[in-house]
Amino acid sequence: MRVFSGVQPTGNIHIGNYLGALRQFVDLQEGNECIYCIVDMHAITTPKDPAQLRSDTLDVAALYLAIGLDPARSIVFAQSDVPGHAELAWTLMCCAYTGELSRMTQFKEKSRGHESAPAGLFTYPILMAADILLYDSELVPVGSDQKQHIELCRDIAIRVNNRLGDVFVVPEGRFLKEGARIMSLDDPAAKMSKSAENPLSRISLLDDEAKIRKSIMRATTDSEGSVRFDPENKPGISNLLNIYSAFSCLPVPEIEKKYEGAGYGAFKSELASVAAGALAPIKERYTEIRHSARLAAALREGAERARAISGRTMARVKESFGLGLGAGGG
Ligand code: AMP
Ligand code: TRP
Repeated sequence: MRVFSGVQPTGNIHIGNYLGALRQFVDLQEGNECIYCIVDMHAITTPKDPAQLRSDTLDVAALYLAIGLDPARSIVFAQSDVPGHAELAWTLMCCAYTGELSRMTQFKEKSRGHESAPAGLFTYPILMAADILLYDSELVPVGSDQKQHIELCRDIAIRVNNRLGDVFVVPEGRFLKEGARIMSLDDPAAKMSKSAENPLSRISLLDDEAKIRKSIMRATTDSEGSVRFDPENKPGISNLLNIYSAFSCLPVPEIEKKYEGAGYGAFKSELASVAAGALAPIKERYTEIRHSARLAAALREGAERARAISGRTMARVKESFGLGLGAGGG
């Protein structure tokens, strides 16, 4: 299958992102043709410092390779390096309705309280639809918060196909399970997040062992003192058990057994070692890659391969819509 996903270039990528999403990107390389895009054009829907944006884009790309995306197998590139995204987005904008865009909860949330919002924030889901349809993508792994955007992408593809014939492949979303939700360490009622003020609320993929240990040792638990999975009554300990299980590949009941009669201190301390041990090779590879010629080459080559695929789709789209006179550079 052809798999496509996009990730925003932001800092603070944490173990929630990794366990809930990025790790699946790596697994999907097995037996599929994967295209992973760093969506820097989506990032500028809110103002960004230019130098910071470029640096964030490279950070995410390096992190992708560090967690095991293999540029020889998967296509990894920055969205703005492939002109087809913007080109197809315009075409799709003419096939979508302002009413359906107004219903997007993400737009409603982000524009709430403002008299006016950037037009790009409003048309964001169309650019996302273009990302997906440009590559005839069949499967799109994303967080469940993206469900509405995937539905819109499918609606637009079906609408165009009904009018103009089989122009687009209609993609399926693959939504990450709720079970993969990693909660904040200082408040287990909230999701672990990139933007939370307290850095001890999350474990970022590039944290060193001291920071990982400090965040886990300070994590909110309860006064019962037994290491038992009970998300309702013991959300803090249950979240730590989930993290332990995800990094060690041990099932939760086995971890419960291992720590029967042990205090939270011992459990947390060993969890810190397990997490730090799992993240150390990622950090090491990241440091090697981030400023390397290998990263630049992987992104250049990824963009070239993406341009070849998207060029074929755009030729088909333009033919179907009656656009262009074939006088362009091709
Ligand atoms: P975002 O932080 O919104 O850019 O998320 C990027 C990806 O990570 C999305 O697919 C989210 O569903 C996933 N994700 C974000 N936060 C968490 C979390 N705390 N637990 C599990 N998955 C998460
Ligand atoms: N909107 C997605 C998010 O915030 C990112 C994204 C942009 C994306 N284009 C995409 C995801 C195409 C999947 C496919 O997470």
